[in-house]
Amino acid sequence: MTTSASAPIGIFDSGIGGLTVVKAIQSLLPSERILYFGDTARVPYGSKSQVTIRKYAQDDAGILMKYQPKMIIVACNTVSALAFDVVEQIGKGLPVLGVLEAGAELAVQHSRNARIGVIGTSATIASNAYSFAINAIDPDVEVFSSACPLFVPLAEEGYADHPAASMVAQEYLEKLLEQDIDTLVLGCTHYPILKHMIKKIAGPDIIIIDSAESIALKAREVLAEYDRLNDSGDAAFPHLLVSDLPQKFKALCELFLGQEIPDVELVEV
Ligand code: DGL
Repeated sequence: MTTSASAPIGIFDSGIGGLTVVKAIQSLLPSERILYFGDTARVPYGSKSQVTIRKYAQDDAGILMKYQPKMIIVACNTVSALAFDVVEQIGKGLPVLGVLEAGAELAVQHSRNARIGVIGTSATIASNAYSFAINAIDPDVEVFSSACPLFVPLAEEGYADHPAASMVAQEYLEKLLEQDIDTLVLGCTHYPILKHMIKKIAGPDIIIIDSAESIALKAREVLAEYDRLNDSGDAAFPHLLVSDLPQKFKALCELFLGQEIPDVELVEV
């Protein structure tokens, strides 16, 4: 198995939301080769059962393993919450990082009043995985959460600044914001697209934790530990694998990644 510094970092998500993680990794670690799999044929995962999510996670990690990555990043909070062990098993000893753990760690570091809000897909919030992860770090933190199922389609419609998105966000966040939280975790990799609008509703006193940014910091730390950081200085385009090429795919990639993707491969799941 290739484990040299020049091997790619394998990243996956249910669809294109995880491209926000790719963007964060590219900006922090520009020499890293990135292999990204988006299960565009089966997205969304967040409304599905744990059995199905675990099966999909197994397939997704298996696809990345064919390309001999040096690390796997689960750029999907839903999979991080419900099937992280499945990915570790398929990864056979490779470092495996999940957005959920990274987001939980950063939130605890930032919170001053030990009251943290978490938003995510229905499956992520129902699993209570963020509460477990946060309380494993600090049992005194109180965690308040809210499922925001409409945020994924709103992000994919590019409704980042649309009044409809703002109305939905106000409804979803209202109860959470009454809890005197000082930190809010964006517990879904689609949500950074709506970050600006969420920040506006949350107000200036609440710190927003973007799990995409936190996982990039964690990846750098772990790669350095394993002596697998690629410091060749050559910027590389991400190689993108998808299980379907939906309409608007190109526009969506540009929205989530902020650049055009020249290199897309269709794979079977
Ligand atoms: N991006 C996925 C996550 O982070 C959510 C999208 C989905 O429901 O598949 O949870």
